Amino acid sequence: MWSREIFLTIVASLSLPVLCSSHIPNNYHHARALHIRNYVTSASVADSYDFIIAGGGLAGLVIASRLSEDPDTTVLVLEAGESGDDVPSFLNPPAGTYYDSLLGTSYDWAHKTVPQRNAGDRIMPWPRGKVLGGSSAINGMYFVRPSEVEVNAWKDMIASDDASSSEAWEWNNFLKSMKKSENFTPPRAEVEAMANIRYQADSIGAGGPMQVSYPGFMLPVVGNWLPSLEATGIASAPDPTGGKNYGGFVAALSINPTNWTRSYSKSAYIDPLPPRKNLDILVSSTVTKIIFDEKSDSASRVATGVEFSSTASGPRKVVNVKKEVIVTGGALGSPHILMHSGVGPKDVLDAAGVPLVSELPGLGQHLQDHMTALVVWDAKVETAGDIQQSGSEISKQAEFMSFVNSAIAYVNTSTLFAANAGEFQTNIRNALAESAETLVPSKSQEVVEGYKAIYSATEKLMPEGLGQIELLLSINSPGAIAIQAALQHAFSQGRVYINSTSIFDPIVVDPNYFSHFADLVTMREGLKLARRVGQASPMRDALGPETFPGPGVSSDAQIDDWLRGNAQTEFHPAATCAMLPRSQGGVVNAKLQVYGLANVRVADASVFPLSFSAHLASPTYGLAEQAADIIKTLYKTPSAPNDSSNNGDSDSDPNADNSSNSKNGGISLGSGIPSFSGAIWRTMICVVAFLVIF
Ligand SMILES: Cc1cc2nc3c(=O)[nH]c(=O)nc-3n(C[C@H](O)[C@H](O)[C@H](O)COP(=O)(O)OP(=O)(O)OC[C@H]3O[C@@H](n4cnc5c(N)ncnc54)[C@H](O)[C@@H]3O)c2cc1C
Ligand SMILES: *[C@@H]1O[C@H](CO)[C@@H](O)[C@H](O)[C@H]1NC(C)=O
Ligand SMILES: *[C@@H]1O[C@H](CO)[C@@H](O)[C@H](O)[C@H]1NC(C)=O
Ligand SMILES: *[C@@H]1O[C@H](CO)[C@@H](O)[C@H](O)[C@H]1NC(C)=O
Ligand SMILES: *[C@@H]1O[C@H](CO)[C@@H](O)[C@H](O)[C@H]1NC(C)=O
Ligand SMILES: *[C@@H]1O[C@H](CO)[C@@H](O)[C@H](O)[C@H]1NC(C)=O
Repeated sequence: MWSREIFLTIVASLSLPVLCSSHIPNNYHHARALHIRNYVTSASVADSYDFIIAGGGLAGLVIASRLSEDPDTTVLVLEAGESGDDVPSFLNPPAGTYYDSLLGTSYDWAHKTVPQRNAGDRIMPWPRGKVLGGSSAINGMYFVRPSEVEVNAWKDMIASDDASSSEAWEWNNFLKSMKKSENFTPPRAEVEAMANIRYQADSIGAGGPMQVSYPGFMLPVVGNWLPSLEATGIASAPDPTGGKNYGGFVAALSINPTNWTRSYSKSAYIDPLPPRKNLDILVSSTVTKIIFDEKSDSASRVATGVEFSSTASGPRKVVNVKKEVIVTGGALGSPHILMHSGVGPKDVLDAAGVPLVSELPGLGQHLQDHMTALVVWDAKVETAGDIQQSGSEISKQAEFMSFVNSAIAYVNTSTLFAANAGEFQTNIRNALAESAETLVPSKSQEVVEGYKAIYSATEKLMPEGLGQIELLLSINSPGAIAIQAALQHAFSQGRVYINSTSIFDPIVVDPNYFSHFADLVTMREGLKLARRVGQASPMRDALGPETFPGPGVSSDAQIDDWLRGNAQTEFHPAATCAMLPRSQGGVVNAKLQVYGLANVRVADASVFPLSFSAHLASPTYGLAEQAADIIKTLYKTPSAPNDSSNNGDSDSDPNADNSSNSKNGGISLGSGIPSFSGAIWRTMICVVAFLVIF
């Protein structure tokens, strides 16, 4: 049924079916009951808004929801993709991401890199969500925080510029803003025991809009993970969300355990709201550019509006902005929007034929991504993929469809390099000057300075025991089990840029993979470590022969060659609008304001200046919450009511819908999951019996 090649591509891409471009059956476009939120149309959009949010993705919808809590503040969201309301069966069941996903459909930007010189000249797929919720609508739902020292390193990088504003990004403050977005429900006892789940409930938020929990279904092989890591010398992380994420753990997920659905920025921050007169959302509307007042100070250009269109050749429409434009197009979309607005590196804009409004050499630069590669074995035990393929009763149940991979580990240089860890770090430090001279894809001295600053900060973190490699267990394919090794701190920095005058042409993506030697060396050791974990007890009892890359790939040279030909993105690009001093090719300051522009901010995953050992959704929620607070404080709009002291104005609190807050439900079988019918209830008991026997 599934060829080995398709399987490998699937697992290689963080277990997401990149190649399986799913066809959306027509019957999903059936008439639906009127949705709680009526999106405005381009005909009904107002002439002006206080805030225009360019991109209705993860961060954009958080900010829209928070800013519109004040009924006197008007907010417009412009989103290039559709609402997603026509494809609920693809968005909502968490495991749908593996078995029948939106990747490769019109809900995916389906970006591609340029040929990667140091990675077999390959053109690699870079999916990104093109739908309300953005990539949070199509992602793998892993809920992982960066480490405290990484977040503080980021803060330190901008503190020299603005010490007091940089405090927003200090770990404790940033943790508070991440927690504000969250509502944690502990795992079911059976699931917790089977998988050895460890967590500290108080380091995840309570009462926030985004649901965080664990699947309702578990497989015994996941329980092999932590003991096998320990047998390989990798300790378990007792509190991975509290600032020390290194070690092994079964990560929580962004899923709603009251009905086993994906929790993402739209379902968390927008759907539960009653209609708000002051919040308009316009879908199928690509922002084509920000309009600036040509008479405004050239060192502080004033944005007067935003132009958008639904098609490349269609009519353009302009909406005026009274306060600010907030750019939330993501790591590719935000630089794309700004460059087409005339902001960015002069050489890029000149070559593309876009008139320069404000020169910003660092825009699109500093791009860092995580790369992943995997080892595959034949499975001697049943996998989630086997169950799904069987078409059994179980395979159709919501609990089963809530199972997604999340057993991971962040491993440090001492585990990867043993006695050579110090020497590896020294080699990297000594290569700084030459790397800065030869590997930066920009001639701007500011950008080179930023490259050095990011490089040094990343190198200095190495002795902290941080995860340089993430290991991930994948069991969603029939007959096979994989362990991935994903690079977390790339020393290769790439860039994105435009090469035409139309924003409907894709942005050019050049991550410059493996341009720095350290990245290949780290991944090589990561791959070897993945093999060691697979050979450790008890994991080895579940595995048959290694089928990929197989015994023919064993020497360092063979592994390096193989990595160049097979490593893929782990989907975590960042830093294309880096928060750095302007003298280091920065794009935004500590308040997220774009240098050289009076009233434009960027507030999404593109602003993290350095790579985190984490999947990026949780920090992006935190960044968006913090952005909304910064903006509200500036314009002195009332801040969000505290969750426990809700004043009863349901229109001002996304949590007001009790059912979206599962603090009191769905934990153990006994305490009940009030929204389930009797039939589903009985099924759940069957599933638990199955779990125990299995
Ligand atoms: C396949 C995949 C799997 C992932 N798995 C995980 C995971 O398991 N856990 C995790 O934590 N993270 C994961 N991530 C990463 C995470 O989802 C992203 O880092 C996060 O969504 C970034 O948020 P954002 O707001 O910066 O961008 P996005 O969420 O991508 O939002 C950007 C939005 O802007 C819109 N847009 C872009 N350009 C324009 C324009 N010109 N006009 C109008 N709208 C525009 C886009 O359509 C999109 O809706 C994954 C990502 C992908 C792609
Ligand atoms: C690296 O990880 C190992 C195994 O988890 C641990 O024993 C060691 O203390 C860590 N090193 C540092 C510097 O934290
Ligand atoms: C822009 O770059 C892409 C990727 O290299 C290429 O396919 C495309 O033809 C280029 N477009 C123009 C107008 O040069
Ligand atoms: C709301 O929370 C903040 C910080 O968490 C606190 O300082 C403030 O007193 C709270 N306000 C109310 C009304 O409870
Ligand atoms: C929310 O919960 C409270 C307390 O349990 C209850 O009194 C109230 O009626 C509920 N509101 C809704 C809308 O269900
Ligand atoms: C899941 O439950 C939440 C409330 O907890 C609700 O808002 C959402 O609409 C439900 N999702 C589906 C697909 O039923």
